[in-house]
Amino acid sequence: MIDTNPDSAAATQQEISAEIAAIETGYQRTGIEETQPRLEYAPYRSSLLRHPTKDLHHADPEGVELWTPCFSERDVNPLEADLTIQHAGEPIGERMVVTGRVVDGDGRPVRRQLVEIWQANAGGRYIHKRDRHPSAIDPNFTGVGRCLTDGDGRYRFTTIKPGPYPWKNHRNAWRPAHIHFSLFGTEFTQRMVTQMYFPGDPLFALDPIYQSITDQKARDRLVASYDHDVTTHEWATGYRWDIVLTGTARTPVETAGGDRR
Ligand SMILES: [Fe+2]
Repeated sequence: MIDTNPDSAAATQQEISAEIAAIETGYQRTGIEETQPRLEYAPYRSSLLRHPTKDLHHADPEGVELWTPCFSERDVNPLEADLTIQHAGEPIGERMVVTGRVVDGDGRPVRRQLVEIWQANAGGRYIHKRDRHPSAIDPNFTGVGRCLTDGDGRYRFTTIKPGPYPWKNHRNAWRPAHIHFSLFGTEFTQRMVTQMYFPGDPLFALDPIYQSITDQKARDRLVASYDHDVTTHEWATGYRWDIVLTGTARTPVETAGGDRR
């Protein structure tokens, strides 16, 4: 990755953690609830240079421009939801199912919408030319999948649990294991890109991207639950994660200008 802050390599985890703690304390003093990531969050070094500095320009789109692309069963093969069958052999790692519902702010299912995911392999390595950290590429795992939600707004992927990986925000910086999600919703204003995490990850407290959502309740909305009813006998562990596109319980999302790894 391009290191946009030449000083960032000098920061230690201890220094970053102290910055995170100071912002957390300040947030709690305000008493004003935040539900989305901060655009400018100093412990996440590159956020300082990348976030928008001016208000968005308000346009007046025609109705047709508000509607998102429509994908149907003709465009998306159900097999694309299984990231473990894309190559000749089976990928290494913990096979798991991730499933949940996509709903709007009133709990109504968002039906037949495209859900796309991308993720690192079990060793924390992406298939990407800028990912050069010394962990093995798995020739049987690309880490990309997609599906359509069903009539109840439900999505379901079979994949491998991703590993944590290092990044260059500061010295000894590691991202908690996560899966990137993209959804269109039913109109462009609902388009979202976000990350799903796994319960109990020891890296949560240390990660400036996760912590850039300053409210614990909002952070919790990005963490899946282990669900033994999703786990299947001698095959795969199971996680459940619901996504809320609008309203007060909206799932935290990434905004334009962010570069969430
Ligand atoms: Fe990532």
